[in-house]
Amino acid sequence: MVKIGLIGCGAIAHTHVSNLVNHLKGEEITEVFDVVPQAAKDLIKEYQLNAHLSESVDALVNSNNVDVVMVCSRNDTHVEPILAAIQAHKYVFTEKPLATTAAACKKIIAAEVAAGQRFVQVGFMRRYDPAYQELKATIDQGLIGAPLMGYCRHFMTVPPTSYFKTENTINDSFIHESDIIHWLFKDDYASVQVQFPRPNSLNPAAELKDPQIVTVKMKQGAIVNVYLNQNSHYGYEVRCQVIGEKGIAQLPEVNRLDLHADRKIYHDVDYDWSNRFVEAYQRELQDFIDHANRQEALTGPTAWDGYIATVTSDCAIQSQKNEAVVPIELPERPELYQTKE
Ligand SMILES: NC(=O)c1ccc[n+]([C@@H]2O[C@H](COP(=O)([O-])OP(=O)(O)OC[C@H]3O[C@@H](n4cnc5c(N)ncnc54)[C@H](O)[C@@H]3O)[C@@H](O)[C@H]2O)c1
Repeated sequence: MVKIGLIGCGAIAHTHVSNLVNHLKGEEITEVFDVVPQAAKDLIKEYQLNAHLSESVDALVNSNNVDVVMVCSRNDTHVEPILAAIQAHKYVFTEKPLATTAAACKKIIAAEVAAGQRFVQVGFMRRYDPAYQELKATIDQGLIGAPLMGYCRHFMTVPPTSYFKTENTINDSFIHESDIIHWLFKDDYASVQVQFPRPNSLNPAAELKDPQIVTVKMKQGAIVNVYLNQNSHYGYEVRCQVIGEKGIAQLPEVNRLDLHADRKIYHDVDYDWSNRFVEAYQRELQDFIDHANRQEALTGPTAWDGYIATVTSDCAIQSQKNEAVVPIELPERPELYQTKE
């Protein structure tokens, strides 16, 4: 039974804790910390956790009552607990992004390399989505030949708040595609470009340019277009199509009943991300817990994957300034991350 120390008690923590309490096995939440103590208290109460309220990140990570750490706090607060967990030789599941700067990601990678072991799993849950896994297996089996190009769509319904600015489309939405595309295509990025089509006049957020189109080019030449829209007004939608030398593989349209009635054929569309990836959230955490319980090497998205995503986001944000094609350069992949994929 692995003992979890949870840091950050906001929206995604509620999703994960609900899954841990109601669906997952082999774990218990023993310590909880949030900079807003009331948020931690509310979470403990809501899920009736038999957990202690920690006083700090450091106290939580180094508690004898914690075997593994889960980081669900704000984007810019992930680094400190991750480094502390590596230092303490404890596995750490962190929500994406690994860190908000490439320099901070490098620190995490250096800490793992120095320890000679991977401790980090990044919450790129799409890799655990059954449809994405089938898409990957289809490509890996060579059924469509070498992948040449692709198309992704990431459409949101939730009206953007003042928090959500032009950069957030990259850091909060595109970051999932930037992980999934190099995973599917088994190649590194050569460049990225962001373009702004005609602005959506229904977009209420003054500091958000919407929609956006991101184009990534891979080292072997494949090109993928990602359409990102925070104001879809019809629902939440994630699409991914990979076009290969001899076929096309794509995610199913929607996993919903088609209704044929009133001279129409229609189905419901998700409102937000929480429903679309329910299974993926459960499977990614169960995988992390199982590996921790068996004390096996983690096989989920690594710190190196987190680094790739952050570097790609940085370059995309640079491109947002003038729509230029920005080259993406990564240092050589350390030996510790060679066995992945
Ligand atoms: N994988 C996904 O699909 C997905 C979806 C949503 C959010 N996320 C990620 O999860 C993280 C949290 O997002 P959210 O939507 O739950 O945000 P949120 O604002 O609802 O919650 C964040 C919580 O972190 C707490 N916090 C802030 N700084 C802290 C610190 N230094 N130490 C401890 N707690 C701190 C806040 O008080 C708050 O309770 C973000 O990194 C986000 O990108 C991932």
